[in-house]
Amino acid sequence: MNRLEGKSALITGAARGIGLAFAQAYVREGATVAIADINLERAQAAAESIGNQAYAVEMDVTDQASIDAAVETAISKTGGLNILVNNAALFDLAPIADITRDSYERLFAINVSGTLFTMQAVARHMIARGKGGKIINMASQAGRRGEALVAVYCATKAAVISLTQSAGLNLIQHGINVNAIAPGVVDGEHWDGVDALFAKYENRPKGEKQALVGKEVPFGRMATPDDLTGMAIFLASADSDYIVSQTYNVDGGNWMS
Ligand SMILES: NC(=O)c1ccc[n+]([C@@H]2O[C@H](COP(=O)([O-])OP(=O)(O)OC[C@H]3O[C@@H](n4cnc5c(N)ncnc54)[C@H](O)[C@@H]3O)[C@@H](O)[C@H]2O)c1
Repeated sequence: MNRLEGKSALITGAARGIGLAFAQAYVREGATVAIADINLERAQAAAESIGNQAYAVEMDVTDQASIDAAVETAISKTGGLNILVNNAALFDLAPIADITRDSYERLFAINVSGTLFTMQAVARHMIARGKGGKIINMASQAGRRGEALVAVYCATKAAVISLTQSAGLNLIQHGINVNAIAPGVVDGEHWDGVDALFAKYENRPKGEKQALVGKEVPFGRMATPDDLTGMAIFLASADSDYIVSQTYNVDGGNWMS
């Protein structure tokens, strides 16, 4: 408890799912958290459910002005940021022959450009402030290898792993640790959409793909968002000060690297 006492964090895409679980966990550990999301209404509801150590900020990670405004709001509300979690992302899938340029550009805009330019905005602030910081990027097991139907999302998450390596090497001289988490399959609203897409392209009944991927996890089930909070707290805390540029699998044994 209190491993993040007095810290100020900004989590993108925190209105639901994994980001929301991280926000709850960071507040339990003593931090103040900006729930930054494109869906302001849900971000406000999430912040209210957590209490007065959380506040909602409207943020579209594909829009530079929106990134700058959200980061500025967090800085002026709390006096400075110590922790950034780049969590917002979009999923899509299609066989190579059906991938659209629109889907490709949208996924790269949110998952890759959004991660890079949010990281840049927060890193500039942390460098100028001179107090170091922690940046955690959300990768995925999808970034560790290709998948027949998931080429673009896999490529975005491989890019997140690579950006984490380079940014970590560049920023550790300022006392800023950049690391990433690679989850496996995590239950939540996100998977409703994923399951529906697999049902369409693999001709399965609704729910079958989700049940199957859960059974295939060596641990024996899908993760819940709370299964990931231990790593998220660790990477945001002083316990991880000597860890640089790493991506940790938190996936019940799905992948080893
Ligand atoms: N759920 C899984 O199985 C799984 C597995 C591996 C990795 N991940 C990764 O973990 C992270 C969180 O996943 P999740 O399942 O909680 O996702 P989710 O889809 O439930 O939540 C994503 C959040 O991001 C927000 N968002 C979307 N576009 C945005 C934008 N342009 N700007 C700001 N916010 C935006 C959404 O409003 C939503 O609140 C993502 O990076 C995802 O790729 C998830």
